[in-house]
Amino acid sequence: MGAADRKICVIVLAAGRGTRMKSRTAKVLQPLAGRPMLAYPLAAAAALHPEQIVAVVGRDADRVEAAFEGRATFVRQEQQRGTGHAVLMAQDALADFRGDVLILYGDTPLLRPETLERMVALRAEHEAALVVLTAPVDVRGIIIRDAEGRVVRIVEAPDATPDELLIEERNTGVYLLDSEWLWKTLSQVDDDNEQGEIYLTDILEISVREGGRVEALYLDDGEESLGVDDRAQLARATKTIVRRKLAELMSDGVTIVDPDSTWVDVDVRIGRDSTIEPGCVIQGNASLGEGVHVKPGCVIERDCEVGDEVEIGPNAHLRPGTRLGNRVRIGNFVEVKNSVLGAGVKADHLSYIGDADVGAGASFGAGSIVVNYDGIAKHRSRIGEGAFIGCNANLIAPLEIEQNSFVAAGSTVTQNVPAEALAVGRARQRNVEGWVARRRRKTSDRSDEASDETTTPEKSS
Ligand code: UD1
Repeated sequence: MGAADRKICVIVLAAGRGTRMKSRTAKVLQPLAGRPMLAYPLAAAAALHPEQIVAVVGRDADRVEAAFEGRATFVRQEQQRGTGHAVLMAQDALADFRGDVLILYGDTPLLRPETLERMVALRAEHEAALVVLTAPVDVRGIIIRDAEGRVVRIVEAPDATPDELLIEERNTGVYLLDSEWLWKTLSQVDDDNEQGEIYLTDILEISVREGGRVEALYLDDGEESLGVDDRAQLARATKTIVRRKLAELMSDGVTIVDPDSTWVDVDVRIGRDSTIEPGCVIQGNASLGEGVHVKPGCVIERDCEVGDEVEIGPNAHLRPGTRLGNRVRIGNFVEVKNSVLGAGVKADHLSYIGDADVGAGASFGAGSIVVNYDGIAKHRSRIGEGAFIGCNANLIAPLEIEQNSFVAAGSTVTQNVPAEALAVGRARQRNVEGWVARRRRKTSDRSDEASDETTTPEKSS
């Protein structure tokens, strides 16, 4: 069996405290383009079809394990005594495994599976004992090569000489090596260093000493290996993931008018010939059909499902639980929440549709509102096919507005409306003849009195 066909297991280190995030939440649970951060290395690991993924967790372990149940075997590192110590925590879980071990990190979300596959190929090609991923990035591990250019050890910045600190090639911390070799070399590592930690990096020097061949896969563009330690790096990683997502959508036939001002989460689906205009944010698992036009400034949240040829915006807001049938039109300043709108429904301006089931072809006039909340509980309404809701109508839920009925503009509707009926729920208009002239007279009398008062002192003098 060639090394390229060898079985592989992945260890993902995710026990760090994440102090620099200054968060109440563990770093690996921080959301990033719609997924918690740890989801990314787990997905990259899963792409290699490993026998097992072992995640080493520490801070908020219960929550991390609950969030990723079934996607890894979890082991705990109660005290963070260094990366080598963290890997040792996985040894029991992998006791019966023979093959390659890949070591990844919960806070390195940008690594591509293709890069990991290149590491696998490099190990096979050179029959290397250990492959390390290196890049010109600002991290602590400095790659030391000998006169022949062979990698011989990694020095951590606090332990390095001034000359070593000038070396640009750095250790991303990702390694691929044989399982037995890993446990053998790691058992020889101590904590005799500046930080008093068990450094995983020491296995490289030990490998060289034991006669193993060490290869480095050098990434010209270090972006992929970006570790997220603080909020600024979180923003940078998010931007990279969104940029990749937009590139993928564009290559699948979606028009993104301005990728720099468009935010689409990684699990969003958008059909071909759809157009997303600038300033839109599409989140979570939202799914849009084909030929959808999202105009500037729209927000589409998770759990929204949009059919084909739908028009949304500008400045519309679809909240969770929104289902829009084909050819629906949602116009400016319209908000829809937890509602199902049948084919061809129109709400072109300034409406709120919450907790409603709306039949095909129904129409909401400007300013019409489904009043779904009475201050205590939410109520659901049904609006039948072809119903016409006039401008500025308030539909007080729960309500049944039957098909092809009409609600007069300005009505406040509190009772069900039968099919084909007109509902009028507003004060009757009356015209008061001659009112304007009477008012004009009254106001001029009043201003005469007022000017008399101000001029009185002068007159008396
Ligand atoms: C480590 C490497 C360094 C490399 C850098 C790349 C060592 C000794 N140093 O340094 O060569 O350039 O990564 O980013 O390995 N972790 C645990 N338990 C621990 C300690 C760490 O799970 O006890 C996890 C952290 O959650 C983190 C990762 O390991 O995801 C790296 O730990 P960190 O302390 O940030 O390592 P660096 O000092 O940056």
